[in-house]
Amino acid sequence: MSNAPNLIDPFQRAITYLRVSVTDRCDFRCVYCMSENMNFLPKKELLTLEELDRLCSAFISQGIRKIRITGGEPLVRRGIIGFFEGMSRHLDSGDLSEITLTTNGSQLRKFAGDLYRFGMRRVNVSLDTLKADKFARITRWGRLKQVLDGIDAAQDAGLRVKINMVAVKGANDDELFDIVEWCAARDMDLTFIEVMPMGDLDTMERLGQFWSLKDVEAELASRYTLSDLDLNTGGPARYKRIEQTGQKVGFITPLSHNFCEACNRVRLTCTGQLFQCLGQEGEFDLRKVLRDNPDDDTPVITKLHEAISHKPKGHDFDYSRQAIEGQMSRHMSHTGG
Ligand code: 5AD
Ligand code: SF4
Repeated sequence: MSNAPNLIDPFQRAITYLRVSVTDRCDFRCVYCMSENMNFLPKKELLTLEELDRLCSAFISQGIRKIRITGGEPLVRRGIIGFFEGMSRHLDSGDLSEITLTTNGSQLRKFAGDLYRFGMRRVNVSLDTLKADKFARITRWGRLKQVLDGIDAAQDAGLRVKINMVAVKGANDDELFDIVEWCAARDMDLTFIEVMPMGDLDTMERLGQFWSLKDVEAELASRYTLSDLDLNTGGPARYKRIEQTGQKVGFITPLSHNFCEACNRVRLTCTGQLFQCLGQEGEFDLRKVLRDNPDDDTPVITKLHEAISHKPKGHDFDYSRQAIEGQMSRHMSHTGG
């Protein structure tokens, strides 16, 4: 329990939360995330599992308290359970307070028990619809039943499950209440995510449209009583409670700027690039320092501090009527949600 936060950015924000993408690959091809034919990175570009451990451990030694593992789909990375097993030493020592996972759920039947065994207690599962045909249209390659089965397995293993639903007009706007009630019945919190300008925008266009979370919230308020929750996780989500179901619902509106002030996080890509901010192109190559110094973590730690000292104040996403400004050239699966 030693480490006081000592990664402080230029705006006096303590950086305590690290999101780590462990692969750019996925067994799904969600239309808002990927194109149908993706070129994935060659293996040598990826951090090895040992390098991931080294880097995460360096971050933890410098005050990172929470780690979220993302992808792509993290659980399709071969050997990833060994990585979680390794990280469990930091949970045991108390240096790390939590490790969590964002997953599409397809592999949870196989791995939920191991995840729990190695100290994980919560997972976020992405699920946009409860209709099998629609699920297949949105994810292209996914099967709904496999994901629902994975969610069952996770809950049976003792993991708390939160559902992430990307709100897409014309795709899942007719299921809003069904999904809320389904989550409530299973004691799962639910977070809505506004579509970000990434992935295959042409297909998105055909599938549906931008659905503002303001409208989602208004629709919820037409049926339920929503009370404010004063819960700031340092991220882009706002939270409310649905009084009738007791559920916590989150609203992630990455296109609004209002959360940047309290930002406590940085992201690491599967190639070891550190992004300070989801909406900025600036990155730091930590892989190079890691590989140049196989036996010495000091240069890595120096580089971490250098990177954090460049964390920008906020981002530049913005929708306008004519064009999508601030559109990022990289896919979500590379930076990892
Ligand atoms: N806009 C919004 N959310 C997205 N996700 C992936 N791509 C996008 C996008 N373009 C979501 C996934 C998952 C989370 C990590 O990010 O559905 O829930
Ligand atoms: Fe895979 Fe998640 Fe992207 Fe869908 S949104 S393709 S499940 S990484």
